[in-house]
Amino acid sequence: MAIRKVAAMGNPILYRIAEPVADATDPEIARLANDMKETLIDIGGSGIAAPQVFESLRLVVYRYSTRLDENAREQADPWVTLVNPVLTPIGGEMISGWGRCLSIPGLHGKVPRHKSLSMTYQDLSGEEITVQASGALATLLQHECDHLDGVLYPMRMDDISKLEFNAEPGHLAQDIADGVNVWPVLRDLVDAWPGREQWMDN
Ligand code: NI
Repeated sequence: MAIRKVAAMGNPILYRIAEPVADATDPEIARLANDMKETLIDIGGSGIAAPQVFESLRLVVYRYSTRLDENAREQADPWVTLVNPVLTPIGGEMISGWGRCLSIPGLHGKVPRHKSLSMTYQDLSGEEITVQASGALATLLQHECDHLDGVLYPMRMDDISKLEFNAEPGHLAQDIADGVNVWPVLRDLVDAWPGREQWMDN
């Protein structure tokens, strides 16, 4: 049990193709996944990939429900561990979603993502599982699995003007004012933005 140091953008570990996990049931993998979970709890993040904690392995830990629905906190353990996940987009539809990354502190950006996908992965017992996801969950999964292929979210952006400091969330505030649905943690940035009343009509 340990909170791990998180690699920041620019560190070479973040740009490598991570190695497949040879044995999903290896206790060392469970230990690493637990460290990643504790690191997420400590930082307050929703997902993390092993390369971000300097382990170049195809392993992701995330939680989803508590980030979108505060009432979900009392539900059963929402943590999910993905071993060797493979994503397959469904249909050609793309959506743009705001996101942040633990390896890019202080910034957020708007990133085009596939709207729907199918994902096959192993859990820590080695069982192979296939699920479908769309919308916000699909964007989260694409973000985390990109880390396994050495891709950070700014590398996916098609409009770099939508990369901005958390302290100056102007484009994000405009989107929220226009009715775009965003993660609560991002909405909080806009709520805390002193410049909001100067720049926004509402
Ligand atoms: Ni990330």
